[in-house]
Amino acid sequence: MNLVLDDLPAAAPEAENVCSLENYLALPDHTMDARIAAARARLGATTILLGHHYQRDEVVRFADATGDSYKLSRIAADTDAKYIVFCGVHFMAESADVLGRDGQQVILPDLNAGCSMADMAEISQVEACWEALEQMGLADSIIPLTYMNSSAAIKAFCGERGGLVCTSSNARAAFEWAFARGKRILFLPDQHLGRNTGYAMGIPLDQMVVWDPWALQGGQSRATFEASRIVLWKGHCAVHQRFLPSHVDQVRAKYPGIQVIVHPECRWEVCQKADALGSTERLIALVEQAPAGQMFAVGTEIHLVNRMAKRFAEQGKRIITLDDTGCLCTTMYRITPQHLCWALENLVEGRVVNRIKVRASVKRWARVALDRMLETSAG
Ligand code: 13P
Ligand code: SF4
Repeated sequence: MNLVLDDLPAAAPEAENVCSLENYLALPDHTMDARIAAARARLGATTILLGHHYQRDEVVRFADATGDSYKLSRIAADTDAKYIVFCGVHFMAESADVLGRDGQQVILPDLNAGCSMADMAEISQVEACWEALEQMGLADSIIPLTYMNSSAAIKAFCGERGGLVCTSSNARAAFEWAFARGKRILFLPDQHLGRNTGYAMGIPLDQMVVWDPWALQGGQSRATFEASRIVLWKGHCAVHQRFLPSHVDQVRAKYPGIQVIVHPECRWEVCQKADALGSTERLIALVEQAPAGQMFAVGTEIHLVNRMAKRFAEQGKRIITLDDTGCLCTTMYRITPQHLCWALENLVEGRVVNRIKVRASVKRWARVALDRMLETSAG
């Protein structure tokens, strides 16, 4: 694809004369639509807007492509657009920057759009964990594997030590890759995805041990680590952790024949009771493939569930949330139409705001870890 930079001014250094975000935040949502559409049209093929499935409707409707974190990372790796505006969270934008080419720039409309799970593993804690495993004489037998939901520094840590990255849509392939190269896996930072994946591969729960970064030596004895196949970092998603096994029992009792489908970030007890697990993209596909008349309870973020309910009602499929208090990812929700409009209108003026730029030294090994994921999942 040829870049159409035509009459756009050349990008000025960041934050020079930036239209103030505060002026945008005071404006009502409905006034943003026409402005976003106009700025988007003006930017043409120079820009691609990526939207994660958890984004609110008012934002995701402008996305050129939507997807789970794997699909969006592939698009980021393949696009020729000069600007990638990522409507998602920080770790996704960082990954897009790592996978992008020289000259491409990634923009996250609100820098506060982080991920509380990713924040549960600090690079210094992971280094301390590895050092402890080295002192126990176990590091040589462990392949570090990190969920996409982690900082670029942790991805680089894994890449440099012979490990890789995975998402919820390719975790099993990544585990198989790692087990072909080492006796054990250190899985960061989501204990639930790690446990669910390991268990589905036939690894018993007692061979999966939790590393608590706040406890001395991870809170376990050397013998426990030595007997394990998977060391699970003590991290979780607060959104998905809210789904409980009792919710599955309740919907099954109330709606006989209902299918329960959940994201693998849900706790093991919930996943065991569910009919199927999947990434956000896979959850949508499961409903797509179902016959008309089927009812589903979906255990994932509420914006996606609501959008699915609306979309599939037309096909006679009923969708409800697994927990009717509605689980909201507050950090995804931080990307508002006002933030998107501000980022795009600045871009039209040649100003790049909120650029996500991973340090070159980190980028190098994070790229290795991400490329291993892409190769493992290809085809
Ligand atoms: P997906 O890769 O399934 O979209 O998941 C990303 C995420 O953050 C889920 O909480
Ligand atoms: Fe992070 Fe959970 Fe939000 Fe996904 S749903 S971005 S894991 S906090």
